Amino acid sequence: MNEVLKTIKSRRSVRAYTEQQISQEDLNTILEAATYAPSGMNYQTWHFTAIQNAAVLEELNEKIKGAFAKSDEPRLRERGQSQTYCCYYHAPTLVIVSNEPTQWWASMDCACAMQNIFLSAKSLGIGSCWINQLGQTCDDPDVRAFLTKLGIPENHRVYGCAALGYAATAPTKERQLAEGTVTIIK
Ligand SMILES: Cc1cc2nc3c(=O)[nH]c(=O)nc-3n(C[C@H](O)[C@H](O)[C@H](O)COP(=O)(O)O)c2cc1C
Repeated sequence: MNEVLKTIKSRRSVRAYTEQQISQEDLNTILEAATYAPSGMNYQTWHFTAIQNAAVLEELNEKIKGAFAKSDEPRLRERGQSQTYCCYYHAPTLVIVSNEPTQWWASMDCACAMQNIFLSAKSLGIGSCWINQLGQTCDDPDVRAFLTKLGIPENHRVYGCAALGYAATAPTKERQLAEGTVTIIK
């Protein structure tokens, strides 16, 4: 099996990280890989905001919790009120992937870039996980104000975030593949 296929098949979501930060060189490599993703009409209107400051990440988590606390959904309200909830699993790096919502494929552009982030990270021995909570809460006024402070373009929505760091414990569960998801017609 070639290295690309090996990387695709061995990538797993990592939900426990060590405190070790990823190097600037590796971060640059991963962000560059993100920008090589395909995008509809090649518009490349996305933006990648990498946060490596623990205090900023904690503040972002508090803003997300604040938005959850206002939710009608009991499950989200519970997260909002939890002392221990951390949507990014205390990863040392979080990459926020945002885009202009003007094209209907904006989310797909971001998803392609996210997968490039996950696969390039895996190829460098770095663990990763898709973090959805900012996508759900980026329109909350307090969250939005914080995103603006971080320099995320005001006309952008967040479509996903990638937690990055070194796995504290290697994910061991075998990947269970759903059946019947492939059809080949000849
Ligand atoms: C659109 C999307 C949103 C996701 N959101 C989250 C999330 O918020 N938190 C999380 O821990 N995992 C999240 N995941 C990761 C999935 O749970 C994970 O990919 C799936 O369980 C398969 O496991 P694997 O990545 O280890 O193969 C998300 C994945 C996708 C594609």
